[in-house]
Amino acid sequence: MNMDAIKAGIKEALALVEDAKQLADFWAKYFGKGGEIQKLMAGIKKVPNEEKKAYGQAVNEVKVLAQELYDAKKVEIEKKAMLARYEAETLDVTLPASGNGAGNLHPLTCIKNEIIDVFAGMGFDIFEGPEIEDDDHNFTRLNVLKDHPSRDMQDTFWLTDELLLRTHTSPGQIRVMDNQAPPIKVLVPGKVFRSDSDATHSPMFSQMEGLVVDEHITLCDLQGMLDQFVKALFSGEVKTRLRPSYFPFTEPSVEVDVSCFKCGGKGCSLCKGTGWIEVLGGGIVNNKVLENCNVDPDKYSGLAFGIGIERIAMLKYGINHMGKLFENDIEFLKQFKA
Ligand code: DAH
Repeated sequence: MNMDAIKAGIKEALALVEDAKQLADFWAKYFGKGGEIQKLMAGIKKVPNEEKKAYGQAVNEVKVLAQELYDAKKVEIEKKAMLARYEAETLDVTLPASGNGAGNLHPLTCIKNEIIDVFAGMGFDIFEGPEIEDDDHNFTRLNVLKDHPSRDMQDTFWLTDELLLRTHTSPGQIRVMDNQAPPIKVLVPGKVFRSDSDATHSPMFSQMEGLVVDEHITLCDLQGMLDQFVKALFSGEVKTRLRPSYFPFTEPSVEVDVSCFKCGGKGCSLCKGTGWIEVLGGGIVNNKVLENCNVDPDKYSGLAFGIGIERIAMLKYGINHMGKLFENDIEFLKQFKA
């Protein structure tokens, strides 16, 4: 057995090794089960007795040499891998920071601000009432009497027998009239709560109440103001239409429709083919409500309306599920960057 040739073979084989995989192959070939070293050791059986010692030493030398060269190669390869990693992970400290970017207003805030802008331009003030209301303000003084079926129109979250989460911003009307004599021109924005949840309802949503009390206020004033409002919010082209409706706190009561701003009134999927979209409710303040607030109905009359802010946002931006407005999905919200 030519041990020198074997040693030379080992050196040659290791010189060709360039990565951890090839190094592992080398190890398997020489040190693995049935590998070259084991074969050499098994070969001792065929060696005459007097040569066994020298053969054993020679095989051991091969083994030691292979191990030493292997270890050195291993260090070399690990160092190479480390350098490559350093290279790949180098930080360029001169790069400008990516930053978090500027935020933007939530679409509901934008709509709320737009509505306030329009009515502020007509001289409205802002009033904000409490979210926890009592039965009196939320229902009774708004002419929604106890056991009256219209209480069922609003699925109330009751806190106690008397206290509740306000189901609408209309109690703001009572609070304003209690504190201020006519003329009154006020907007009441705020969160409202109802036990209701589907694509177009959420247990918490926002409304904007409007109340005007003065001498000679009529339904024409209501239509004129709302006409201005929808024109500013949707487009200068849209028209309004009043339909008779029922609310205990207004008499007469109306639903306000706007001509479809998508199809111009011809009929499309947004207006469900009717050419009209319902946007809010309103009416002439019921005399009983004025009386409940010590406002003389023979001298004064009032108009009131309630706008659902989510509904306006969904119509204006083409949002099909109200939940989207509350999920705070940053990709969704980014679309409304002004
Ligand atoms: N409060 C009503 C609701 O939540 C909306 C509303 C209708 C408010 C007519 C008004 C009004 O002020 O006059 O469904």
